Amino acid sequence: MIKFHKQTIKDVDVKGKTVLVRADYNVPLDDSGQIADDFRICSSLATLQYLQKQKCKIVIISHLGRPHGKEMKFSLAPVATRLSELLGEPVVFMNDCIGSEIRQKISDQSDSAVILLENLRFYDEEKANDSQFASQLAEASTASYFIQDGFGVVHRAHASTEAITHFLPSVAGLLLEKEYSVITSAMQHPEHPLVAVLGGAKVSDKLPLLEALIPIADCILVGGAMANTFLANQGISVGGSKYETDQSVQISRIIHEVTKKVGAGNEGEFLRLPSDVVVAKEVSETADIQTVSINNIGNQDLALDIGDKTVKDFANKITSARTVIWNGTMGLAEMNHFANGSRGVAKAITSNREIVSVVGGGDTADFALGWSSQNNKTFLHVSTGGGASLELMSGQMLPGIEALLDV
Ligand code: 3PG
Repeated sequence: MIKFHKQTIKDVDVKGKTVLVRADYNVPLDDSGQIADDFRICSSLATLQYLQKQKCKIVIISHLGRPHGKEMKFSLAPVATRLSELLGEPVVFMNDCIGSEIRQKISDQSDSAVILLENLRFYDEEKANDSQFASQLAEASTASYFIQDGFGVVHRAHASTEAITHFLPSVAGLLLEKEYSVITSAMQHPEHPLVAVLGGAKVSDKLPLLEALIPIADCILVGGAMANTFLANQGISVGGSKYETDQSVQISRIIHEVTKKVGAGNEGEFLRLPSDVVVAKEVSETADIQTVSINNIGNQDLALDIGDKTVKDFANKITSARTVIWNGTMGLAEMNHFANGSRGVAKAITSNREIVSVVGGGDTADFALGWSSQNNKTFLHVSTGGGASLELMSGQMLPGIEALLDV
């Protein structure tokens, strides 16, 4: 396992201190404002419970959604309720995150209080990485340390991820350390064979990841609408399916890299595309579906999942892997009708407990977690990060990590 190059809460003496914890509680809410998925809240517990054992007063900050000013539907109040249930003790919710009143209220709380402050993004200064706002956050919190544990947001240089580190000694929480170490180890020192499964909507979103994977992977499996772009680029008609028309230069570059690695003529063995797809005439749970060879996609057809032959081929590759990195679903997996390919991938990965599996990307993580709970099978690591896990896998520096104290 890669050693984390930043200090964590275990490297500093937080005992009995007030700490400011940045979590990523950007959780999905349903139409009635209830939390639809508490994975990110559950994932923050390890750090909070460690800090409770250290008898800290814990002040938590987070964003939720992309509000324009104080839009109360983006209040973090429901998160405080859920967090309190999970911790089994009260969480004090405060309706702002800066100011002298908040500072006073925090000072008035008991030494072991857990406090959640209101949505940081109610202030534009948060996204602007505003230094004065960060200093106000530090001051209101009364904290001696800043603890970054919001892995999902460390790819952003915001006031609560970057500027804040200029005002408080700043270290990582346990979730951030785990995410970094597991993802980076899988990318830098994978056990081979390493099979990467990539999908989702766009090739353009995944180019840096593809480029990072080509040198290290033993095989890359491509599904989802991303595969349509590769197929169309080979001159295969994908009918009315979603694909990107402006990626031919980038795809040529990718194929060139693949050729350099595996030799001319072997590209299709290394970068595997679907041989068949599930098509429908409309995107609907009740649409008639058909599985066709990629050479028989009709003009009106929409390719919305990989076909059975492809599922088998991908599963064969996956089950013989020692490491699997999965980013992107194989079709429109939020619809049961088009989730067979993603189910096949999930089943293959979890069929062998020896496989080191790292699942990243918001939709893929949602799918994997849902599949896990229905099938009682687990992945080694499902990341809480969407963009952050994609960027870390791609080898990019994440500003919210780099700003922390070095070991
Ligand atoms: C996420 O959900 O990926 C993070 O919370 C970051 O949110 P953002 O994309 O709105 O910055």
